[in-house]
Amino acid sequence: MCGIFGYTGPRKNAGVIVIKGLKNLEYRGYDSWGVAMRLKDGTLSSSKEVGKIGAVRNEDFSDESSLAIAHSRWATHGGVTKENAHPHFSGDQRIAVVHNGIIENFEELRRELEAKGHTFASETDTEVIPHLIEELLKTKGTTLHEAVRAACKRFVGRYAILVMDRTSETLVAARTGSPLIVGVGEKEFFIASDIPAFLEYTRTVEYLDDGEMVTVENGAIRFQNIETGEERAKRLVTIDWTIKDADKGEYEHYMMKEIMDQKQTIQRAVHQDDEQILKVAKAIETCLGCILCACGTAGKVCMAADYFFSVVAKRHVNFAPASEFPIYHHFLKPESLIIVVSQSGETADVLEAMKVARQAGSKVLAIVNTEGSSIARAADFTLLINAGPERAVASTKAATGQMAVLLLIAHAIAGKLNVGRTLLLEASGQINDMLNPRYIEHIRGIAQKIAHHENMYIIGKGWNYPMALESAIKIQEVSYIHAEGFAAGELKHGPIALIEEGTPCIALMGNDEFTADILSNIMELKARGAYIIAVSPVRHDMFDLWIKVPDAGAAQPIVNIIPIQILAYSLAVLRGKDPDMPRNLAKSVTVK
Ligand code: G6P
Repeated sequence: MCGIFGYTGPRKNAGVIVIKGLKNLEYRGYDSWGVAMRLKDGTLSSSKEVGKIGAVRNEDFSDESSLAIAHSRWATHGGVTKENAHPHFSGDQRIAVVHNGIIENFEELRRELEAKGHTFASETDTEVIPHLIEELLKTKGTTLHEAVRAACKRFVGRYAILVMDRTSETLVAARTGSPLIVGVGEKEFFIASDIPAFLEYTRTVEYLDDGEMVTVENGAIRFQNIETGEERAKRLVTIDWTIKDADKGEYEHYMMKEIMDQKQTIQRAVHQDDEQILKVAKAIETCLGCILCACGTAGKVCMAADYFFSVVAKRHVNFAPASEFPIYHHFLKPESLIIVVSQSGETADVLEAMKVARQAGSKVLAIVNTEGSSIARAADFTLLINAGPERAVASTKAATGQMAVLLLIAHAIAGKLNVGRTLLLEASGQINDMLNPRYIEHIRGIAQKIAHHENMYIIGKGWNYPMALESAIKIQEVSYIHAEGFAAGELKHGPIALIEEGTPCIALMGNDEFTADILSNIMELKARGAYIIAVSPVRHDMFDLWIKVPDAGAAQPIVNIIPIQILAYSLAVLRGKDPDMPRNLAKSVTVK
């Protein structure tokens, strides 16, 4: 959600660097974009557009420049227009700013600045930032970083900002709540919302923490606490992601590449340090109340984990969507344990939930994919799922990796860590066999048969129920078909009224004690004319179409969701939609 990227250093093509970097942040979701660069003669050149950056030629930004900032905007305050796109400028055109997040008190600041003669060209909250900095710079002797720091002290809200000054090669950035990472090269610096923006140039990074700002001036970098001005020493971290990991390679879309990555990612997720897993298992066993908490797909993973803990570990846990979690504050104690799950590690609702947990003194365990992310750093303890960068908006390999780690933990609680690891490694092998061209073609064929439908329903029982919900999300997100997931037994209590002749209904099954029940539910659907597509290890006569999956025991939800990911992808492509960048959605949702 909103991509920020800036460069300062000895290279002479800063415009091209930031445009390319912005293209690498496209996955975050956006509706307009813009760039500002300081040209050789000290003038500021900028352009903004509504729509996608994909087709823009990098060469169009090749004017000689060593300082540039760029932004992809996901509209919050003000419509999707060129005027509202970032960067925004001070009245004297000296300062350019890009921003992620929300300045909640912008109306008050705007009124104050208008009273001092400032005029505004957009409807955004962002525009008050360059104008306020301009105002603060009027005090004689004030440097850019002092003005930015003083401005930040006036802001209420969660934000990340990046500021450039036409009169120097200085970049200043600050954050509270939204991510910012500094890529450190040879006398050059990249400041971005996420690592893929600069992975081509450096894998050495420094993380900006909440409440901190960074100034890059004359080849030197300085971190400070915004409130106190106190300088902070930072550790240089080397990222183990490569450009290849972050590239879609031979695939047309990231989503398909990431689905195929699942040949290896379950194994990578299971590759955890035994001691750490046992420590986490112990914490879950001994805590007084354990709550799983996440958003979107990661939330459905938590619901599946609820079943893992219950069935495998005989341990009761609750799940709360992160946006609802604050209501739980009445029940939180210092002995409570909150397990947050997140691919990006930057989801604002999850960070807010962690804050609530902290206030109650509860401990937080994070299961994330992104090392160094805000959630990873704010947690008491973190487990990484090691899936590599996930760029398609629809989460695939991260979801199955998260389930693998949670299933492993459930086994550890039951004293069966090795059994769990063996089960998951077997599932990983089965997934590797499954993901072959014939299998994918078979599912594409099924997608062709149902792609013209506007409604479809998915049912599951036990741990396949959260996967039915996740299946619905996958199909909705990328194909825009109205899909809904239900607990199979709930059908007869309402949803069955929606079934008409030919309505596609997908049943997710295992080879387990629920088979008889779900077969009865399928019969009920069929009797109303439903067209049954079953994802099941075993074939039954009543299926109209069958997607075979291996019998994977407790790992069945992990295995079952994979053909649905392929189905959702195929439906999107057949309906002419871009599965990597669905409308209205963002990969990393950094606002509440
Ligand atoms: C967004 C994405 C979803 C994702 C959710 C949680 O809504 O579009 O795909 O599941 O955020 O993201 P997280 O990074 O916390 O897993």
